[in-house]
Amino acid sequence: MTGDEYQPVAVSRRICAPARDIFRVLADPGRHREFDGSGMLRGVASSTTISGVGDVFVMKMYFDELGDYQMINHVVEYQPDRRIGWEPEAGRGHPNAEPGAERPARWGQRWSFELTPDGPDATIVTEIFDCSQVPEDQRPDVGHGAIWAGAMARTLERLDALCTRQGKPAQSSVGKGAEVPKRSGAPAEDPFGGRQPTSHERLTGLPWDASYRDGPAPWDSGRPQPAVVRVAAQGGFAGTVLDAGCGTGENALHLASLGLPVLGVDVAETALAIARAKAAEREIEAEFAVADALALGRLGRRFDTVLDCGLFHTFDGGERPGYVVSLASVTGHGGTLYVLCFSDQGPGTGPHPVSQEELRSAFGPGAGWHVAAIKPDRVQTRFHDDEGAPAWLATIKRT
Ligand SMILES: C[S@@+](CC[C@H](N)C(=O)[O-])C[C@H]1O[C@@H](n2cnc3c(N)ncnc32)[C@H](O)[C@@H]1O
Repeated sequence: MTGDEYQPVAVSRRICAPARDIFRVLADPGRHREFDGSGMLRGVASSTTISGVGDVFVMKMYFDELGDYQMINHVVEYQPDRRIGWEPEAGRGHPNAEPGAERPARWGQRWSFELTPDGPDATIVTEIFDCSQVPEDQRPDVGHGAIWAGAMARTLERLDALCTRQGKPAQSSVGKGAEVPKRSGAPAEDPFGGRQPTSHERLTGLPWDASYRDGPAPWDSGRPQPAVVRVAAQGGFAGTVLDAGCGTGENALHLASLGLPVLGVDVAETALAIARAKAAEREIEAEFAVADALALGRLGRRFDTVLDCGLFHTFDGGERPGYVVSLASVTGHGGTLYVLCFSDQGPGTGPHPVSQEELRSAFGPGAGWHVAAIKPDRVQTRFHDDEGAPAWLATIKRT
């Protein structure tokens, strides 16, 4: 992507507060930690309230790989109650601030907030990450900005809570107007969004979302799975498509790029925000929504083809029957489900190996399914070599 084609990453949220109140919070670096969605801000090192272009404020930061460091932020945009933006420069403790560092301390990235009044008491707040001034060959290091999309969505969620001080439902969007659906009455700090944690989450002690917050998850190869690409090329996906547990959307986006109407659902909002940013960047029409795959009926929709790439194998024996019912509730009769999961046939089996028998017993005729085929295949991950890990590709028909 060249500088001319580059589009900054933008995340928006309607906040029920007047623009001037929101601007006041944004212009006070002492309050930035209260709404930071990246988890990297530790507080303010030196600043006063921002009053114009040219002001400088220094923030204390923390990042696992760097430890404690500081960022010197140069205010480059200031339009009272409408827009504020700054360009960070590596400060004390940051490797780019060292003499002879590989990269300049001021790398060229810019953070801005744009406030557009929406009636007297509400504002559309858009946070923008622009790395068009970062050297072109280094922009992929931050996924052209896409890696920040999740943190930006969280920032706006917090800014909303801070400015409205009530648990009002609101909507956010990433890139070209895609929406994050409302979460039903979940307490703001509930990392599971009001649903029951899955067996995997109970085991790891972390919500799925955490896997996406600090760079790519181990399974997120950044490409669609070759098995999915092959099945699609053979015409195996038809009609409306659901990608259950879509992660950052590579498979869904591939299918959508073929002209199929695709909905990708996941419980990880960070993954969905990244998926939406990719869709916007690649100019692909695809829908991404938060939904629990164990309760898909709540979508109130039907699909002709359903993909499960790496989700079934994360559920334990107690969850699988419910998952199978949930899938049946959204798959039209005669529809097709593809399950691509780690297989138990080594060498080099993945972390949740599944046997053919487990697949056959989960999708038995009594559950409204007919297993048409289970074939050996491969799954690509970031922790296997190019050949990937042994997998099963199950083709299952809804009876
Ligand atoms: C191993 S990852 C696979 C992601 C994606 N399909 C891919 O191939 O990259 C499993 C995904 O399922 C999601 N997930 C786990 N439990 C879920 C649930 N109950 N409902 C919806 N998504 C879920 C996780 O957040 C994660 O993104």
